Amino acid sequence: MAVLKITNLVKRFGGLTAVNGVNFEFPEGKISAVIGPNGAGKTTFFNMITGIYVPDEGQIELKGKSIVNVKPDRITSQGIARTFQNIRLFGSMTVLENVMVGMHIHLRSGVVGTLLNLPRVRREEQRAKMEAYRLLEYVGLEQWYNEEAASLSYGAQRRLEIARALAAKPSVLLLDEPAAGMNPRETVELTTLIRRIQQELGISIILIEHDMKLVMELSDHILVLDHGEKIAEGGPGDIRSNPKVIEAYLGKSAVEEEVTI
Ligand SMILES: Nc1ncnc2c1ncn2[C@@H]1O[C@H](COP(=O)(O)OP(=O)(O)OP(=O)(O)O)[C@@H](O)[C@H]1O
Ligand SMILES: [Mg+2]
Repeated sequence: MAVLKITNLVKRFGGLTAVNGVNFEFPEGKISAVIGPNGAGKTTFFNMITGIYVPDEGQIELKGKSIVNVKPDRITSQGIARTFQNIRLFGSMTVLENVMVGMHIHLRSGVVGTLLNLPRVRREEQRAKMEAYRLLEYVGLEQWYNEEAASLSYGAQRRLEIARALAAKPSVLLLDEPAAGMNPRETVELTTLIRRIQQELGISIILIEHDMKLVMELSDHILVLDHGEKIAEGGPGDIRSNPKVIEAYLGKSAVEEEVTI
């Protein structure tokens, strides 16, 4: 069963067609990847799934239900959370507070309750803090819970973004270049974390990534975009040796030399 079904998806920016008639089904409970050269349309594709952009044509269904024209916060509450290619944290807030921001859609208190300092609200906030702390433990950042987010290393900030996304209790998690800027050790840890999120939490994961080792190690199913179009799909074995994919990444000569990615 597909958790997300994409049909004939199109997004244009003026004269440029950033995503051009893409069809794809993301399997439930699995790890999928969207790959392709710079400017291929990968982030634009994510931005349509998360409601930041409305597609010009096509359909996006989450578990059989259309999410086209649904506002981003509603899409989050329907179960899709994401991280961003350019990290978007509140740098001067603490690490713990950043995770709590991701949780707000599940808090019921509202402004009035907070102003009146009601016991119910205090209890809810206490629970939220504990839950946020548990998520920090899950991604291995608990020792920094009270530090400013901006003081974390780049790799740690990417993990914090994952914790914040998990705070929304998603069924689908989109990761836009989670390994970007990470050193090899951090990338290995990230690979383990992504695998745990899929296996232990049962979350369907879709990742955009240029690190081919990570992509090939983790992905069940891969969508390859080039100039907005789907040029290939399949398992890591198929994609690695696909001539169209090799040409898109490395040029025609690489195909002739029978290089793999
Ligand atoms: N808001 C926008 N307005 C105009 N053009 C845009 C906009 N967003 C993206 N584009 C263009 O659409 C194309 C696809 O961009 P996109 O960011 O989706 O690529 P990408 O595959 O994520 O690339 P990268 O690997 O570099 O992140 C690019 O040519 C980009 O310049
Ligand atoms: Mg991108």
